[in-house]
Amino acid sequence: MTQASIIDGKAFAATLRQRIAVEVAKIQGAHGLKPSLTVILVGEDPASQVYVRNKGTQTLEAGMDSVTHRLDAATPEAELLAMIESLNNDPACNGILVQLPLPGHINESKVLAAISPDKDVDGFHVINVGRLWTGQQALVPCTPYGCLLMLKDHFGGNLSGKRALVLGRSNIVGKPMAALLLAESCTVTVAHSRTADLPARCREADILVAAVGRPEMVKGDWIKPGAVVIDVGINRVDAPEKGEGKSRLVGDVAFTEAADIASAITPVPGGVGPMTIACLLRNTLVAACRQNGIDAPDI
Ligand code: GUN
Repeated sequence: MTQASIIDGKAFAATLRQRIAVEVAKIQGAHGLKPSLTVILVGEDPASQVYVRNKGTQTLEAGMDSVTHRLDAATPEAELLAMIESLNNDPACNGILVQLPLPGHINESKVLAAISPDKDVDGFHVINVGRLWTGQQALVPCTPYGCLLMLKDHFGGNLSGKRALVLGRSNIVGKPMAALLLAESCTVTVAHSRTADLPARCREADILVAAVGRPEMVKGDWIKPGAVVIDVGINRVDAPEKGEGKSRLVGDVAFTEAADIASAITPVPGGVGPMTIACLLRNTLVAACRQNGIDAPDI
């Protein structure tokens, strides 16, 4: 049995960040524009703190300005909305990201709707969702965009006619992933926990994107021989074999068995994960260019 090639998201993301840094330097030289990303973190969620720190570091490494606002968990919604309004009106701020999840007393939809669509580097605003689905110029959610870049690279740029199955229907990954694959002329199925005959549906797919958040749910025999598998899941599970109280990260796909069947697969960690921040930097650069009437680089 041939083994799937491993799609190295860590290396891919590093190359992408390098290309972004080159474009940032070019645009700064030619136009005196230094793109700036503002991240707002409300509360002390440990995972969010790590993500926000990494976003700040990688933004600076790409040659852009990074601003982080850390707000108390009890911050009133009105205060957060006022901060967003002020950033919307600040020409020095090109991208705004409010880290999710938010504390329970804050209405997430209201907050996302308050961000100017042109600075919405997460691509979560309904205006950007509508633009994406109608084929207009949008800011696109980072994780699915990262998956698309890896797929296009693997297939030499052409996904036309491929059968793609997206497992998961979240607003952050599943739905925008389906829109992006449809725009590439794939035949797209969106499957989820209620899909009938799920293994059989998965076995029809040339491209399988798993984004359900269920550890190792997709088994080897769910995969069409030769399919390309993109695993968006990041699940922490107990790992008693590593010692008491230890854990490890696994994806939504049972990697070892899937790698015996697929032609290519992303690992967890080191697959999709590193692409998300790289695409956030890309969106910040693109947003800054569009706001200033500069042609955005094709990244
Ligand atoms: N929390 C987990 N993933 C994300 C993301 O992509 N964007 C934001 N804003 N929050 C997140």
